[in-house]
Amino acid sequence: LRIGALASGGGTNLQAIIDRCQEGSIDAEIALVISNNPDAGALERARKAGIHCCCIDHRQFPQREDFDRAVVAQLREAGVELVVLAGFMRLISQVFLEAFPGRIMNIHPALLPAFPGLHVQRKALEYGARFSGCTVHFVDGGCDTGPIIIQAVVPVLDDDTEESLSARILQQEHRIYPRAIQLFAEGRLRIEGRRVLVEGPQP
Ligand code: GRF
Repeated sequence: LRIGALASGGGTNLQAIIDRCQEGSIDAEIALVISNNPDAGALERARKAGIHCCCIDHRQFPQREDFDRAVVAQLREAGVELVVLAGFMRLISQVFLEAFPGRIMNIHPALLPAFPGLHVQRKALEYGARFSGCTVHFVDGGCDTGPIIIQAVVPVLDDDTEESLSARILQQEHRIYPRAIQLFAEGRLRIEGRRVLVEGPQP
């Protein structure tokens, strides 16, 4: 399975996927890493791993669709079969969704449908939630609204800060994202309406 990874930040989820691919626990290879942010740590991680990467700066495009067309062209050129958003801070337009229907995944650091959007670890803390976690889902036209593939739960502790909760969630992100990709690589994910059914023995 050829993966295209999109990242805007430090890229720890990207790193987890790189590591799993290189040790062979995911039957996939990362064919291309794209960032919209020239300073993204994710680009450095790709370079260190010898993975082809490029920066497509969204500020150079008048319309979101134009940026997406440029990204899609690079992904197609690299023969990408699954697009993995790993800390990618841009919304995906219809242009992108139509190019990779049912083939774009995202990771969100909360238990969707709770806390979509940004700063969700802080929102969970401020809300007084006793548990939070992370969600891998297929991307649809909304923000963090696509069919859920895998979730992991973590406790929210009384002395948690945004940082300590984020770190606990991130550990689980690095576990469930590679697993979701492996299930896709094995062809075991079936989208039925809003639900994603996992065929074969449960992960
Ligand atoms: C993570 O919390 C992820 O859930 C969110 O972006 C954050 C940064 O991830 N999408 P990374 O360290 O850049 O992979």
